[in-house]
Amino acid sequence: MAEIAWNNRVADRTFLMGLKSEEIASASGPGQFVMIKVNEGMDPLLRRPFSICGVREDGFVFILYRVVGKGTTILSHAGKGERIRIMGPLGKGFIFSKSDRKPLLVGGGIGIAPLLFLAREMKDREIIFMAGFGTSKDIIDIHDLGDPHIRMSLATDDGSKGFAGTITELFEEHINRIGNAGDPFEIYACGPQAMLRKVVSMATAYDIPCQVSMEAFMACGLGACQGCAVKAASKNGQMDYHHVCREGPVFYTQEIDWNSQ
Ligand code: FES
Repeated sequence: MAEIAWNNRVADRTFLMGLKSEEIASASGPGQFVMIKVNEGMDPLLRRPFSICGVREDGFVFILYRVVGKGTTILSHAGKGERIRIMGPLGKGFIFSKSDRKPLLVGGGIGIAPLLFLAREMKDREIIFMAGFGTSKDIIDIHDLGDPHIRMSLATDDGSKGFAGTITELFEEHINRIGNAGDPFEIYACGPQAMLRKVVSMATAYDIPCQVSMEAFMACGLGACQGCAVKAASKNGQMDYHHVCREGPVFYTQEIDWNSQ
């Protein structure tokens, strides 16, 4: 059980929750997630997965979430001081490369959550952080997360703020420029499946190392239910699957069969 320290609206239908859990805060890394039971009742029955958006040294875990259904609606009404069931940290997060490549972080919508954690951990490195949203109302005020040093290049689908177009268009423009310039980069991405597919195809075309955090239906979060299986890239013609919850949610692009995604 963890106590809710705050649960604030930070954008349209988007909330930032702070949970007091020294155990989880001290063990978490960027890309890992927690399973949360949003209430004590039977509906919804299952825990829900949430990316860890950050931790604070005094034992707080940040969860950034968008209200999309019953579970997240219930969560959005939870108040300071309430206690909820939380399990984690779970899964395999981003691997920090020791290379001199410049990190390029690409996030779509609520997919920026694990990347904000990653960006904070990389504060000694020069990074490029691109984030795409549907409209300016969806843009998350990262100053609520205490990240004044993080600068994001924004894209909005409707052109109401930043680059007018999708995050993949902004990414494509940038990657064509840096790819042709031959600058060494490495990519870290999280967002909707269509965005990830585009990022992966561009990274592959330019031979840029790329890690992606994937989303999947998760019932258990522990590798027991098979609900989160994704097709792995074939080795020696053999079919195989990865559990997003256990072998992921972060994968190198070469580990996944993108034709099946
Ligand atoms: Fe159950 Fe991954 S969520 S196996």
